[in-house]
Amino acid sequence: MGKDINKSVFDEATKLKLKIFGESFEEWLPVFIYDKYTSQVYIFDFFAGSGKDIEDNLGSPLILLNKAEGENRKYCANAKKPIKFFFNEGKIRKSSDLQKNTDTFIEKCKKDNNCSKCIYNYYILNYSFQELFNNPDLKKVFENKKIAKFVLLDQYGFSQINEDVFKQLISFPKTDFIFFISSSFINRFKDHPYTKQHIDTSKIAFEKNKPNEIHRTVANFFRSLIPAGKEYYLHHFSIKKGTNYYGLVFGSNHTLGMEKFLKVCWNHDTLSGEANYNIDNNWEENTLFSQLGENVKKDTVSKKIKKLILSGEILDNKTGLKYALINGCEPKLFTQVVKKLKDSNLIEIIGEFNKQSTNIHKIKELYQIKRISDGK
Ligand SMILES: C[S@@+](CC[C@H](N)C(=O)[O-])C[C@H]1O[C@@H](n2cnc3c(N)ncnc32)[C@H](O)[C@@H]1O
Repeated sequence: MGKDINKSVFDEATKLKLKIFGESFEEWLPVFIYDKYTSQVYIFDFFAGSGKDIEDNLGSPLILLNKAEGENRKYCANAKKPIKFFFNEGKIRKSSDLQKNTDTFIEKCKKDNNCSKCIYNYYILNYSFQELFNNPDLKKVFENKKIAKFVLLDQYGFSQINEDVFKQLISFPKTDFIFFISSSFINRFKDHPYTKQHIDTSKIAFEKNKPNEIHRTVANFFRSLIPAGKEYYLHHFSIKKGTNYYGLVFGSNHTLGMEKFLKVCWNHDTLSGEANYNIDNNWEENTLFSQLGENVKKDTVSKKIKKLILSGEILDNKTGLKYALINGCEPKLFTQVVKKLKDSNLIEIIGEFNKQSTNIHKIKELYQIKRISDGK
């Protein structure tokens, strides 16, 4: 076992990971606080740690609670349905520290805000992940369509989120998840029996010359496990620390979940929306050996969208907006391509052209796209 993350100061890579966890949760929570089809909201942090580092920087469980308060109590004051936090930590000592740290955090919050009672319920658990995840009562919660679930899986290494766990996660309704994975280690130890016991490395398309893309490759392996024809959204964020690459994998069966996570990622990486370094070798001022030109990721996806429109494979706005999402780009990219094609008289819009590129599940004004010329 490596060193205990809560017994030192969180390093920059860990702080970024925690920031993304917090921001993603802050995007997610209000959706379900106000959703009339959701009766309860459950938040799981399955590898919660003790709540803090040695300098009292907040760990993931306390970040979640902090975000759930919202600026000027905008979320907790408006929460009119049961909202429950489940924080699990496998080590008994750390779990009891987490209990103390969480109690103290909530007491202080109540005092600061003059609240006699906290609207949120929290439960500190001490199970091994596998045991808890396979608990039949928990399964019922995960399978319940009226309960919205936000799931954090901040494992050490790569051994806990295996194919079976992943396939279950993507099968649950109203469940968005983010897991951490040490992608460089899978690459480095791909032939080791321990690695193979947890992850079938023969299914991963490792590319020797692209170590900086290893997390993208690992995320693609998980993407390949999504059954054909299932509408499901997966995105990833690579985090470089020294010479190692770690990363996050996010999953949602809803376009809005994906829109929100992509927003967080593109805020952190304006070049590719998926890394804390220049993963696509985009041109940046004062750098050598970089590709001169436009944005590599947006350019590539724009070209694909254009091709699919002109070949008649994308025939309406909703399909196109979803295509941008699936390819890790914000849906507005699709709208920009359509506008250019329309302005160049390569396509005609049937219905009313509109630029709505967010909340795409709510789009009522569907328009059809008719090719005028293939642009050749
Ligand atoms: C990367 S740390 C999580 C850190 C936490 N997210 C934070 O912000 O402080 C992983 C945690 O999971 C716990 N852990 C490791 N294996 C576990 C397992 N199989 N079941 C439950 N907890 C486990 C470790 O003791 C450790 O505290």
